[in-house]
This record gives sequence, structure tokens and C-alpha cells, in this order.
Amino acid sequence: MATILRQHAEELYALELEELRKQDQDKRPANWHLSPQSAVTYLIGGKLKNGFEVTPKYIGNKRLMEIAVATLTTDRALLLYGLPGTAKSWVSEHLAAAISGDSTLIVQGTAGTGEEAIRYGWNYARLLAEGPTEKALVETPVMRAMKDGKIVRIEELTRIGADVQDALITILSEKSLPIPELNTEVQAVRGFNVIATANNRDKGVNELSSALKRRFNTVILPVPDSMDEEIDIVKRRVESFEKIMELPAEPPALQEIRRIVTIFRELRSGVTMDGKTKIKMPSGTLSTAEAISVVNNGLAMAAYFGDGQLKANDLAAGIIGAVVKDPVQDKIVWQEYLETVVKPRDEWKDIYRACRDLGI
Ligand SMILES: Nc1ncnc2c1ncn2[C@@H]1O[C@H](COP(=O)(O)OP(=O)(O)O)[C@@H](O)[C@H]1O
Ligand SMILES: [Mg+2]
Repeated sequence: MATILRQHAEELYALELEELRKQDQDKRPANWHLSPQSAVTYLIGGKLKNGFEVTPKYIGNKRLMEIAVATLTTDRALLLYGLPGTAKSWVSEHLAAAISGDSTLIVQGTAGTGEEAIRYGWNYARLLAEGPTEKALVETPVMRAMKDGKIVRIEELTRIGADVQDALITILSEKSLPIPELNTEVQAVRGFNVIATANNRDKGVNELSSALKRRFNTVILPVPDSMDEEIDIVKRRVESFEKIMELPAEPPALQEIRRIVTIFRELRSGVTMDGKTKIKMPSGTLSTAEAISVVNNGLAMAAYFGDGQLKANDLAAGIIGAVVKDPVQDKIVWQEYLETVVKPRDEWKDIYRACRDLGI
């Protein structure tokens, strides 16, 4: 049997979900797999009464997860909003896994997403042969979620054109999806709700219409507050990547992760950690997700082309790739940072050298 490259949350964490369900003492809303309390425990982690450890999925403010879960128990949908790489998609997947036991009902929003991707489409061969029938109709994840009382995820909602977004209004307010061609409708079963994500870098592309906005509660996912929190996120994600990819490399030293996170946080905020030196900011977002990628790529380099231990040499290309998105402006920013911040740090000499060796 082929090994799946990436398992869905409900598969990967089946054991945790199962244990949470067994231990669940609180009331479950109709068609929910877990109580709201247990769903939050699944997201932020914790120890169950029998000592079972639930790993944290979202690292950050518990209150945000409580608000997110509570919203999904109401008739309002949930909008996760924030910078790229702040775990919007990640949280949405885990929420759907915890609540519906199924994170696979998903619509990827793009500029090309049409109404038929949200409401329903037609199998044209059948439509021509039989006319509009139940069988010729092609269900969307939204329609299936309504029928089964599950969570449907809409990724990057604001990239979808405003007119198409509006197809969601009836669904969210009436909880019904009319099918005029068949003179019928699909009425949502309890447990149905929508989790949408939107990127604030995409603001203005197709902002949410006010009619639609009123049907969502927005939870803003922030960039990690503290250095330690961000290090913790990167460390956990990298460990799980290493396990899944079966990389023949040692787990990275905390020291290496700390340096990467420091570089990211300094460039992101435009000032050094000690607050003493102002620096120019590059055009990219330098998100936590990118920091995770830099370490993951470094590990692959160390495993296959290094000595199996993550070193500055393995990381340099990844760091520069993350920082220099614009070949002209960002390059200037990076070089200045390298010379004025990295170079004078005694314990960073290896990074300085590795980056200089790449000639960028
Ligand atoms: N606060 C956080 N807690 C846990 N993981 C995080 C956090 N912030 C970022 N991540 C990690 O970074 C990645 C974020 O990616 P993603 O959810 O695709 O971001 P977004 O959809 O916001 O652009 C995920 O792999 C996730 O594990
Ligand atoms: Mg996303």
C-alpha cells in the first residue's frame, strides 16, 4: 500500500480525538464529535483526567480558540484573519477535525472560483442527456457539509470575487441552498457551519461585502507574541516534520532555532532584539511558517549533504531565500543586516561566513 505523504488531522491525531471523545464529560452540540471544551483542549493541548497527553496544535492564546469554538456553536460563521503564516489554515483544519471528525470539506478560494464551486455544478454529459436531475447535479463541499451537518472550510475567502462570495449569504443566513432547476433546496443539518480564512495581505483584493461580514465572527490570529513562543512553535513543527520525512538528521539544537527566530523577528520588526539598532525591513512577511521551512530545508541539507547535524552552512541559503524576495531592494536590506547586525555578533560568525560564502 502506498504511504500517504500528508495525513489529514483527523487521521494523524485519531488517537487523541478518540481519547478526548471517550473522556468527554461535557455536552456535545448536535452532530459535534466533541464538546466545545474538549475541542479547545484538542487545539491547545493538555492532560486528560486519566493522564493522557493531548499535544498542542495551536500555540498561543487559549482565549482565541475558545472564541473560535464558541462561534461555531452559534448561527454565525467563523473568519480566521491575519498575516500569512499565522496558522489560519492549520487552525481551521484542526477545528474541523475536532468538531466534525472531518477536515476534508474544503473550497480553495481563488480569483477564478465560481458560484458552482460553492453552490453546486452540473455534470454536462448527464445534463444534456437527461436534463437537470438529481444525478446530473455535482455537489460541492459546501452542499455536502450542509447535508451531513459538518464544518466546511473556505480558504482565502477574500480572493473570491465579491459576486461569488455573495452566494454564501443565503447559505449562512437561511441555512438553505436553493436548487431552482430541481425546484428543491438543501437545508442544512445541525452541526453545519463555515470556517473561512483570509489574509490581511490580500486586503482590497475582494474585501468581504458588509452583508457577508455580518454573518461572520472574526478571530484575528496574531504573529507569536514572544520569542520563546515562536521558538516553541518552530521546534514542535520541525520535530514532527523530521519524523514524518524520516530524515537522517539529528534534531536541531535549540540554539539554531533561536538564531533563525531572532533573525526573523528582528527583520520583521525593524529593530534588533536589544532595541538598540534600527534596521530596514524586507518586503516579505517572514512568517513563522517560513521560519519552519528554513529549518526544515536546513535539516534536509544537513541530512543529505552535510554531516547530519544542522549547521549555519545548511541554513544560509534558506535564510537568504526567505528574506530576499525582491532581488534589488531586499538584497540591500539583507546586506545591511548582515554587515551591521550579524557580523558584530561573536557567536554568529558562522552564519556571517556561510551567508557571505553564498555571495549574496
Ligand atoms: N501559533 C502557532 N501555533 C502552532 N503552529 C503555528 C503557529 N503559527 C504558525 N504555525 C505553523 O506554521 C504553519 C502555518 O501555516 P498556515 O496555517 O498555512 O498559515 P496561514 O494559513 O495563516 O497562512 C503551520 O504549519 C503551523 O503549524
Ligand atoms: Mg492559509
